[in-house]
Amino acid sequence: MYTLVVIRHGESEWNKKNLFCGWTDVELSDKGMKEASEAGRLLKKEGLSFDCCFTSVLKRAIHTAYRILDEMDLVWIPVIKDYHLNERHYGALQGLNKTETADKYGEKQVLLWRRSYDVRPPALSEDDPRNPVNQAPYQKMKGKVALPLSECLKDTVGRVAPYFDEVIRPRMEAGDRVLIAAHGNSIRALRKHLEGISDKEIAGMNIPTGIPLVYHLNSDFTVHDVSYLGDQEAIQAKINAVKNQSACSVKK
Ligand code: 3PG
Repeated sequence: MYTLVVIRHGESEWNKKNLFCGWTDVELSDKGMKEASEAGRLLKKEGLSFDCCFTSVLKRAIHTAYRILDEMDLVWIPVIKDYHLNERHYGALQGLNKTETADKYGEKQVLLWRRSYDVRPPALSEDDPRNPVNQAPYQKMKGKVALPLSECLKDTVGRVAPYFDEVIRPRMEAGDRVLIAAHGNSIRALRKHLEGISDKEIAGMNIPTGIPLVYHLNSDFTVHDVSYLGDQEAIQAKINAVKNQSACSVKK
């Protein structure tokens, strides 16, 4: 039996402002920093520990990982940062307010962009300064990797699932206890992969910020059980808050 802990970063500055974030590299809010530290205290109290941590190349996940590890006196363990665990790329929606976007295009369209399996948001143009090829963490991939200008969840599964199977799973099979600190949609992608969630069913899944999700996996990596750590009522309220981020401001 393997134990795997997966956690979405704490609230980010753009979560707080209700802006589409994606690959934009924004910091945790004060609340998000506290969520991350609280998650570390909770994991320590539960008697969990880690031998390595995987995270994305975005600071909101990296700082969440280090705050957790700091609370657990584990900042010394290897922390592997890789873009394969990045949030889904939200394309030209990045930086737009979710409610205003719903007011403009309708809640149905925004829900499709946020939660459908294979509907991509409008893409960034190649010459947009936000194109990842212009950004430091992806420079070494220029010309080698097709970096996205927009992603649907299917695209995100296409990079998260192989990364888990080819990089993270072997570490677990070698005996490492692993923490993954990632993002709302890269975790939806991982949950779909591990739990065999259908394309239709995944549309209804929202991931709360800063709450540890604990998997117990069988030796063949099928899921024995999975659950969030902490007060279940409070966790459900956080999940609902994520779901309702793109509700129209004015009921039509
Ligand atoms: C973002 O990238 O905007 C958030 O981290 C996830 O947003 P979503 O819940 O609207 O997919």
